[in-house]
Amino acid sequence: MAEMETIGLETDLSLFKYDNLEQLPPSYRDLGEDERTDRIETALDQLSEDVLILGHNYQRREIVEHADFIGDSYALSKRAAEADASNIVFCGVTFMAESADIITDDDQTVLLPSMEASCPMAGMAEALQVDAAWAELTAAAPDEEIIPITYMNSYADLKAFCAEQGGLVCTSSNAHRAFEWALDRGDKVLFLPDKHLGENTAHRIDLEDSTAEWDPWDPEGKDPEAVADSEVILWDGYCQVHERFRADHVENVRGDHPGASVVVHPECRREVVEAADVVGSTSTICATIEEAEAGETWAIGTEIHLANHLERWHPEIEVLPLCGDACMDCNAMRQVDPNYLTWVLEGLTEGTERNVVEVAPQEKELARVALDRMLEV
Ligand code: 13P
Ligand code: SF4
Repeated sequence: MAEMETIGLETDLSLFKYDNLEQLPPSYRDLGEDERTDRIETALDQLSEDVLILGHNYQRREIVEHADFIGDSYALSKRAAEADASNIVFCGVTFMAESADIITDDDQTVLLPSMEASCPMAGMAEALQVDAAWAELTAAAPDEEIIPITYMNSYADLKAFCAEQGGLVCTSSNAHRAFEWALDRGDKVLFLPDKHLGENTAHRIDLEDSTAEWDPWDPEGKDPEAVADSEVILWDGYCQVHERFRADHVENVRGDHPGASVVVHPECRREVVEAADVVGSTSTICATIEEAEAGETWAIGTEIHLANHLERWHPEIEVLPLCGDACMDCNAMRQVDPNYLTWVLEGLTEGTERNVVEVAPQEKELARVALDRMLEV
């Protein structure tokens, strides 16, 4: 079993939202795979229709093989919204489980096997910090309306803030539609927290010459004049897993594998997206490989577990991680260890709900508005 890693400072910030963090008891720490699989299956048989397991595409093999549904963050939130099960075990990261809690009925419980699964990028735009920046941004363009859009990879309080200011949520699969929705209603978009997805989306809707970056950590990185002159303001957040990819990785893979195609996630830098053949959410990446012809070669520019799943699921395709051994796994997603899944499921069979994600009612109502707007665009 992979050792649990110590979480970093950025992740700690977001953990303060959940004081119900429970650590795995010692008796669950060294379960062998066979025993664990048996115990998970026994618990699932017992729980039957009372539990639904949702798994993000970046979860490891030992998790996705137990999931009722595997998908990208948009598909998972839609599936959560349609679910009848009283317990939804969300194998993903904190912000995804929060969104599931917001969207599901009050009598449904959302459990996240490990509360340490916090996306560092979501922690790069804390609602309090955005609220402070909002005063500076609105002062920079006093006669214009700024509509905030937050990427799904953000916490419920920021989603609530966006709703309150007339904005919405988006995922990587509908960011362009969210931008169009916002620009129909206002003059500018403030996009949080991922500057790369924001820049790639601005290109997609032909606004690449009208962007300004806003770095909340650097006084030099805030330019009110640039804000006044631009239609898209990009908060300076990023995903370290996707920032790792460079344009020369695309060149190298094409040189080493003539005829290879490249598919990347839009959290990658602009130059990587420009060099790729296909860009899209993790579901688009899956669909691209599903639709490929046998014998084709595809390099995958996203989190390593998904590249590994695609290689396993499609032996007829040559699937390569875009930067080979340098491709990263997501430390946040990795916190959902299968031993935690066993512990949470066995808890449910005994009537104990462990690691419940519950958004505060005042945030929930507003965040739901922002999520509903997304589901409608
Ligand atoms: P998707 O919405 O494409 O699944 O991406 C979520 C994510 O966290 C990518 O890093
Ligand atoms: Fe967050 Fe990046 Fe992990 Fe996605 S891959 S959950 S953006 S850290």
